Amino acid sequence: MTSHPLYGPAVEAIRKVTDRVPDVGLVLGSGLGVLADTLTDRVVVPYEDIPGWPKSTVHGHSGRLVFGTLEGKQVVCQQGRAHFYEGYTPQQITFPIRVMHFLGVKTVILTNAAGGINLSYEAGDIMLLNDHINFIGMAGANPLVGPNDETLGERFIGMSTPYDTSLRAAAKQVASDLDIAIHEGTYACLAGPTFESPAEVRMLRIIGADAVGMSTVHEVLVARHMNMRVLAFSAITNKGIDVVDSPMDANHEEVLETGKVIVPKLSAILRGVLARI
Ligand code: HPA
Repeated sequence: MTSHPLYGPAVEAIRKVTDRVPDVGLVLGSGLGVLADTLTDRVVVPYEDIPGWPKSTVHGHSGRLVFGTLEGKQVVCQQGRAHFYEGYTPQQITFPIRVMHFLGVKTVILTNAAGGINLSYEAGDIMLLNDHINFIGMAGANPLVGPNDETLGERFIGMSTPYDTSLRAAAKQVASDLDIAIHEGTYACLAGPTFESPAEVRMLRIIGADAVGMSTVHEVLVARHMNMRVLAFSAITNKGIDVVDSPMDANHEEVLETGKVIVPKLSAILRGVLARI
């Protein structure tokens, strides 16, 4: 139990429902929430029952915390997350990661839907994140801006390896054992909610991004602030459109539909990784 002034009330509200101590926190992105249905011995806590918890207003994100067991591990899943483009501050978006820490989580696995920037990526592919470009943070909206809470972590946090080397190795081994091809690359985090223009897609390619999305990186920064281990996957739901006058345009329905196709593959990889943690 924590008496932390910001996160204590949320932890206490959850503790009234369950005393489970999860090892792993799983954050499920657009169209990927069904992964929580594969947990056994589930205990569900709706976000509205947790003081301070940001609720997603986006279609395709349900708002509940699901505790359960997967591959013998105690897991807590965020079925739906809040985003910067919904008007939340980076601190609000990352509130759930802070609470997960106080629930006992040591490892966070994040998932998101993303557009493919690397020309070799196709809709339906999976990318393991090994680095990121944080446009929102560079623009000054980093969740660690403001007075530093020394009880949580240090003022300055290194970002040379945001995504845990041994967890990434485990994920690659699992994918290879299962014969599932995955990419490994750099995720660019933009504010959204507009999808990228063709010139922006071309710029992202030039600066070294492989995939682009509107989430995840804030959560990674806060998890690393508290020294949690981080693993993250992008479900490539569409290819970034890099020419004007294309008959195609990115849209949220396509993101959700392709997310569904990726779920079985991602679920198999997640299970394999959990078995090895
Ligand atoms: N851009 C940004 N975010 C996304 C995309 C995209 O193309 N696809 C899914 N999330």
